[in-house]
Amino acid sequence: MKILVTGGAGFIGSNFVHYVYRERPDWQITVYDKLTYAGNKANIAGLDASRVAFVQADICDEKAINQAVADCDAVVHFAAETHNDNSLHEAWPFVNTNLIGTYQILEAVRLNKKRLHHISTDEVYGDLELDDPAKFTPETPYNPSSPYSSTKAGSDLLVRAWGRSFGVQATISNCSNNYGPYQHVEKFIPRQVTEILEGRKPKLYGSGQNVRDWIYTEDHSSGVLTILEKGKIGETYLIGAEGEKNNKEVVEMILELMGKDPADYDHVNDRPGHDLRYAIDASKLKSELGWQPKYTDFRQGLTDTIEWYKQNTDWWKPQKAETEAKYKELGR
Ligand code: NAD
Ligand code: DAU
Repeated sequence: MKILVTGGAGFIGSNFVHYVYRERPDWQITVYDKLTYAGNKANIAGLDASRVAFVQADICDEKAINQAVADCDAVVHFAAETHNDNSLHEAWPFVNTNLIGTYQILEAVRLNKKRLHHISTDEVYGDLELDDPAKFTPETPYNPSSPYSSTKAGSDLLVRAWGRSFGVQATISNCSNNYGPYQHVEKFIPRQVTEILEGRKPKLYGSGQNVRDWIYTEDHSSGVLTILEKGKIGETYLIGAEGEKNNKEVVEMILELMGKDPADYDHVNDRPGHDLRYAIDASKLKSELGWQPKYTDFRQGLTDTIEWYKQNTDWWKPQKAETEAKYKELGR
């Protein structure tokens, strides 16, 4: 089996590459990544070059993606612009990569008759009230809020259309908020951990009542591999690990685990259009494909993640000042 992993030098893509490298020792992996500000070749360093190849290219580059797809058995498509705050500031890279880039991948898999697994997000479903007993299911109507989530929703619809109209052999997964090693310092958990490590206070948007459904990134990887191997063509699977927590709880837990006063954080400007709550019902993936998350102890996962950022200062330091300068401009 030879897989092409787009966005394999980003946070979740690189964790997936490490996972497959370990779990499927006879597979060949080609990482296809443009190396935007969010991509880092160091994320996949140390892997045997006879098993893991690297192509630096844009998924919007028709010729390059076609050539890479022709040379593999299946594509796992992680590459995207992923940060909501950036999408509110400048939406074009999101429209370009998430929509045009996914279109180019669909055309390449159609022409070369290859299997595709498309990685999406729970944000395509919009948000839930705090007391809503319902969670997102594959049948929940799409209702995205931000330029980021609307371009991800559009990319999912393109995948479905290429499946129905052209017989492209595709599956889709929509996962909840990931955390773990190699996550860019612009994102919530790494930002707070590295703010504390640099001697500043965590920054909570608004009142901090917004709920995210946290999953350790290795559980996302095992979900994706399960769908790639056992998923039914044309189906959508939701991946989540029943990890709902509000942002205030998470900031307080980070402070406590890092030996600080849990109340010692700043409230900063809220994100415009800030989604209130996400929650995933992953029962289809569990009952139909037998998947189960392993890392369901959030406190333990957070402890391990904090330790990773403590041990890998050289990895995150170069991105930190620029990221905080961007936030300063946004008043967050
Ligand atoms: P990330 O921002 O950390 O990494 C994105 C990667 O894609 C980077 O390596 C970047 O260089 C690459 N990339 C961006 N534009 C590209 C282009 N035009 N051509 C080639 N490569 C390009 O993202 P992430 O958090 O690892 O997310 C990966 C995927 O998972 C995305 O599709 C995202 O929507 C989805 N997702 C993320 C989460 C989460 O919590 N982070 C949850 C659910 C789904
Ligand atoms: O739900 C899946 C999505 O999760 C993915 O599709 C996205 O790619 C990923 O970025 C993530 O989106 P969020 O917007 O939920 O993640 P973010 O890390 O930006 O923020 C998580 C929550 O924390 C959100 O409610 C905003 C809040 N926040 C964020 C930052 C950066 C803060 O309170 N303070 C902060 O400094």
